[in-house]
Amino acid sequence: MTVWSPVRFNCGKETANRFAIAPLTTDSSHDDGRVTEEEIEFVRRRAAGGFGVTISSATYVADDGRSWQGIGATHDGHLPGLRRLAEAMRAAGSLAILQIYDGGRIAKPELIGEHRLRAASAVASLRPGAKTPRAMTSEEVEGLIASFREAASLARKAGFDGVEVHGANHYAVHQFFSPRANHRVDHWGGTLAKRMNFPLAVAQAVRDALGPKLIAGFRVTPFEAEADGYTLEDAKLLCNELAGLRLDYISVSLDDYRKNRPTGETRVYNGPVEKSYSLAESPITEFARVIAGRCAVMASGGIKTCKDAEGAIAMGADLVAVGRAVVVDPEWLAKVRSRSEASILAGLPKDEREIAGALSIPPRMVEYLLSRPGWIPRL
Ligand SMILES: Cc1cc2nc3c(=O)[nH]c(=O)nc-3n(C[C@H](O)[C@H](O)[C@H](O)COP(=O)(O)O)c2cc1C
Repeated sequence: MTVWSPVRFNCGKETANRFAIAPLTTDSSHDDGRVTEEEIEFVRRRAAGGFGVTISSATYVADDGRSWQGIGATHDGHLPGLRRLAEAMRAAGSLAILQIYDGGRIAKPELIGEHRLRAASAVASLRPGAKTPRAMTSEEVEGLIASFREAASLARKAGFDGVEVHGANHYAVHQFFSPRANHRVDHWGGTLAKRMNFPLAVAQAVRDALGPKLIAGFRVTPFEAEADGYTLEDAKLLCNELAGLRLDYISVSLDDYRKNRPTGETRVYNGPVEKSYSLAESPITEFARVIAGRCAVMASGGIKTCKDAEGAIAMGADLVAVGRAVVVDPEWLAKVRSRSEASILAGLPKDEREIAGALSIPPRMVEYLLSRPGWIPRL
């Protein structure tokens, strides 16, 4: 088995190799969430390298859960753009996955209206300037699960090979699992088992909407960096339940797959985290052990070379998702394949005017990338 050998998912679909394009928000949909030509070009050029899987930017399932100006899957008006996005991903043989999310307490008040902010509980995020959301009623929680189901149905109609639930990085699904964000005492919270109910219900709804022959994936943050957050042991229990739903893959979201360090909610990139961990093994290995072949494991974080990918696979991953490396160099996989890694672009050009055109990065995404010093390397 090598990084170039296929992976067969439970649903029967098979990848060309073990490389995936990680979900990458471009912050640049039309106002109403339709996909722009710029985003299609961003994806088309990168998927042309022949990735086994290409995952879309996180796509909102509810208008009041948008965390940035990204693409949506809430009604048939979104279908034509989603169809074109799926075609662009599949053009070079990649399997096309739509990642779907809800922002919950970190939806953007300027986009949705501050009074519409709602989440598992009325607890503000730690992010600077965060507003306190309203706690959702049980009917609203059921409604949000239905929105995930409907978004998955739209993805199927649009021709995607599958859907990934964004259960990571502090968005709504993660919030329901987090004791920091979820203080409910009903079916959806109060104990660890009840905090699992929302992630599991969303995963099941997506599986039901897709049927058994499309790919159902779930992205998880392996543990919370904050002292009162959920632990690796908690997340392993969740993954055990998720694997029991006959998902096709579980994707483990890390800043760097070797460093055992998830992104803290305050989003300090390359900076100190509130609590340091010394795990005997990578979370990838621990998750792979719990999942025990019941579905594939996808690793991400800091994969820049073929050797990095091989390292993650040696830790137990079946697939690796590549993010910043493929933002910076759209031809990244072609260079890895032809063993010309020395020619891989190591950072974004110094001259900001060159970035959008030369690299097919939507201008709003360029602004977004440059707004976080240290997040993405510069030449
Ligand atoms: C510009 C940008 C946008 C991102 N958007 C998403 C997203 O929509 N959904 C998601 O799950 N992760 C998102 N991520 C996280 C990446 O998928 C990936 O996990 C992270 O960048 C670490 O991998 P890397 O070191 O290969 O970049 C984004 C990262 C970047 C740099």
